[in-house]
Amino acid sequence: MRSGYDPAPTRIYLIASMTDTQATIAAPARQAADGQTPGKPHIEVRSLTMAYDSVVVMRNVHFTVNRGDIFFIVGPSGSGKSTLMRHMIGLNEPVEGEVLYDGVSFTRADADTRDAMLRNFGVSYQGGALFSSMTLAENIAMPLAEYTDLNHAERMEIAALKLSWVGLKGFEDYYPSEISGGMQKRAALARALALDPDVLFFDEPSSGLDPVSSSLLDDLILQLRDNLGATIVIVSHELPSIFRIGTNSVYLDVETRTQAAVGNPRYLLEHCDNPRVHSFLTRRAQFERSARNHG
Ligand SMILES: Nc1ncnc2c1ncn2[C@@H]1O[C@H](COP(=O)(O)OP(=O)(O)OP(=O)(O)O)[C@@H](O)[C@H]1O
Ligand SMILES: [Mg+2]
Repeated sequence: MRSGYDPAPTRIYLIASMTDTQATIAAPARQAADGQTPGKPHIEVRSLTMAYDSVVVMRNVHFTVNRGDIFFIVGPSGSGKSTLMRHMIGLNEPVEGEVLYDGVSFTRADADTRDAMLRNFGVSYQGGALFSSMTLAENIAMPLAEYTDLNHAERMEIAALKLSWVGLKGFEDYYPSEISGGMQKRAALARALALDPDVLFFDEPSSGLDPVSSSLLDDLILQLRDNLGATIVIVSHELPSIFRIGTNSVYLDVETRTQAAVGNPRYLLEHCDNPRVHSFLTRRAQFERSARNHG
């Protein structure tokens, strides 16, 4: 295990025919019309079956993430969202299937190739997990110490730069316990950015944040995507974020243990007739109708 920092990969690209009759794939042309990022496949997840020992969590998960996408992994608690992310970054190995980045199999790569690919991944885990005994700058400098030859002063300079990107300029010497929950989320994001990744993975980046902080975090994610040209994979339950910044998504269905839909969330809201996907996505529509009626 690396010293507490686990870079992760990203890129999902995959269209294989689905065997589950309940699965729904939004028509690509309509996805594009509905704002899905046109572009080159960056990540392909191919026919992935994931298990812990003999317990299968999800079967035959397959989708593509294009370069520049903000791709959401959604589904009920326990459906396997974090597990999928862990497979995409190599922390878990699939029972079947593979994950490719820019057409190269990450799953089947030898150790050196995998290490080189990992270098392009930035990861923020569910729960944040900044090291409480380290300052924010030290937290961010840690992956730099592990993966680069930069000296201490250079590492600290980059840490300060990354903190400034997430609005934490001047907080370099603070400890995680000395800043708010929202600031901790942003600091975790700065750490994921330490190595200038071209794929960013965030597991529940806005859980526990108030709606305004959550919306500001969405703005930040959009800026990072636009300014860095990164592809972003987010595990989230936050419907406002999913509809606002998501360009594509996969819904993991806990009942059938496979994916039930792939597509732009706004497109799926209108066109997906899987009842569980519909029910998940319309929680927001119901909320907005109710807010209008009472506003
Ligand atoms: N290390 C583990 N060993 C065994 N089973 C696990 C392990 N981690 C997760 N699981 C099981 O795998 C399933 C999927 O878990 P996972 O954490 O991926 O779900 P999730 O969709 O991320 O849920 P949440 O929204 O609550 O974070 C659950 O049934 C969980 O109990
Ligand atoms: Mg999870």
